[in-house]
Amino acid sequence: MFEALQTLPADAILGVLAEYRQDKRDHKIDLGVGVFRDENGDTPVLSTVKKAERYLLENQQSKAYLGSRGDPDFNVAMQALLFGVEQGSNSRIYTLQTPGGCGSLRVGAELILRGRPGASIWVSDPTWANHVPLLSGAGLQLKTYPYYDAENPGIRFEEMLNGLSKIPVNDIVLLHACCHNPSGMDLTQEQWQAVCKIVVERNLLPFIDIAYQGFANGLVDDAYSIRLFADLVPEMIVSASCSKNFGLYRDRVGSLSVMVEDGATIARVESQVVNVVRGMYSMPPAHGGSIVTHILRDAALRAEWDDELTFMRERLKEMRGLIAAELAQRNAPRDFSFIERAQGMFSFLGLTKEQVQRLKTEFAVYMVDSSRINVAGINHKNVGHLADAIVAVL
Ligand SMILES: Cc1ncc(COP(=O)(O)O)c(C=O)c1O
Repeated sequence: MFEALQTLPADAILGVLAEYRQDKRDHKIDLGVGVFRDENGDTPVLSTVKKAERYLLENQQSKAYLGSRGDPDFNVAMQALLFGVEQGSNSRIYTLQTPGGCGSLRVGAELILRGRPGASIWVSDPTWANHVPLLSGAGLQLKTYPYYDAENPGIRFEEMLNGLSKIPVNDIVLLHACCHNPSGMDLTQEQWQAVCKIVVERNLLPFIDIAYQGFANGLVDDAYSIRLFADLVPEMIVSASCSKNFGLYRDRVGSLSVMVEDGATIARVESQVVNVVRGMYSMPPAHGGSIVTHILRDAALRAEWDDELTFMRERLKEMRGLIAAELAQRNAPRDFSFIERAQGMFSFLGLTKEQVQRLKTEFAVYMVDSSRINVAGINHKNVGHLADAIVAVL
């Protein structure tokens, strides 16, 4: 039977990583895959993670099964981090631990389909490439609302509002809480309020994806939309990832929170969601979740983690300023100051596929075809070469 299978094209982002690894040139630069990098191009384990791991090594008593919902303490801690609720106090929100943000998005999609078979979900144009297989692979119909303005880098906000106000009532709308992937362009708090108004008027179900909490303006500001919606809408879903802000990429840690209108519905949500998980991966891995729980519950570690997060956030901002300045210094034929206005890890350079190809072959600079760059791949040593290369292909 396997001869009948067709070879599929490689995943665009992982494909760039594979090409980069094969390149032997010393000055090569990887701006593809979305991981944080320090000045040396490394993605080190956070110091708080190391400390939590040491603690777990000494104190973990059992490796018995965790259950489909994951670690209850992790779920309480994540609910507090996302919604700002006092620990465990919101009886309308059900949170479960998932294998990363991806696992969360997929479980969320499966749950929606159980509530509303054939449902449509509206995503920003463009959105993170992996939203497509994760959500439509589950069976949701994917549709788009206007978002990024490639001509004048920023958000097509009026068009976005207009698009949202035409979404059929009761449909689902996926929103990026902060550090929009791929554009890096985020809504202001006033803009979130306007979006929320339409969501309430049309009784849309907000599905918020938060994969970079702490990378834009801080833990509280980055969760603004979640807390705003939680106060104003009857139901919502929040998918969170701990991959970036705890640097736990390969440990696969995330959470899914489902907010219902009436606390009595929670038991139904729980039975369905646990049934989805049991049929897919049975239960999430424990290790990463235990690390997060320990860091969030230990006051000293929590404070130290805040500092580590601040360091990562500030480095991203610094690299944004640096590349924008280097391009301006070289009189680049385009204004790249928008890179500084964007947040988080990603920005579009606005290059053609051919220009992206030339960057790879002639300059050993790697990025995905859309010219989305991970600004964490920039450092003081490579920024000059990068700016030269961009100006050359323009
Ligand atoms: C927008 C967005 N959502 C979710 C995720 C999920 O990440 P993970 O499954 O690695 O936790 C990512 C990761 O890149 C992302 O960019």
